[in-house]
Amino acid sequence: MSDDYYYKIGTSTIDTNKLIALAKEESLWNDYYEFKVKKVPDELLQEDFFISWLRKKYDIGFGILKIHANSCYPWHRDGMRRTAINMLLTVGSHSHCIFNTDPTGNSFTHGIVDLAYEPSTFYAFNTTIPHEVINFEVDRYVLSTEFMGKNVALSYQQLINDIKSEYLRGL
Ligand SMILES: [Fe+2]
Repeated sequence: MSDDYYYKIGTSTIDTNKLIALAKEESLWNDYYEFKVKKVPDELLQEDFFISWLRKKYDIGFGILKIHANSCYPWHRDGMRRTAINMLLTVGSHSHCIFNTDPTGNSFTHGIVDLAYEPSTFYAFNTTIPHEVINFEVDRYVLSTEFMGKNVALSYQQLINDIKSEYLRGL
């Protein structure tokens, strides 16, 4: 598998149960494109080494994205976001995140690449490639990022180059 669509970074030490508990509180959801988003307080993320590295290097925020049960977020490229780092919190529930292998996104039939999220695992995500999320029986929660300020235009390629040359090499 090439890194064109996503890149598996590594596992996380975050307590995902605490994030899911935060997600399940009814309050505090805001609209974010077609998703609902809930900001994650710093104290729930402090223990993770990779997130500490991200915070030192980039201007970055963290939130939980929600898609309701039995719904989909159809083919799109993200608006402002050129890349993101994602961790699926509801692994084991039935959902798919797929990329379109036709870079134009215009073909009626086309190949797909499935991002089969593993538990407690971070992935860099190429949000400039058309992608779709299909979700089934329960609400789906993803920990995701937004690069801001001086890093708002950070590209997927630059992000994974930084991760490979600086983060992974330093482990
Ligand atoms: Fe997206």
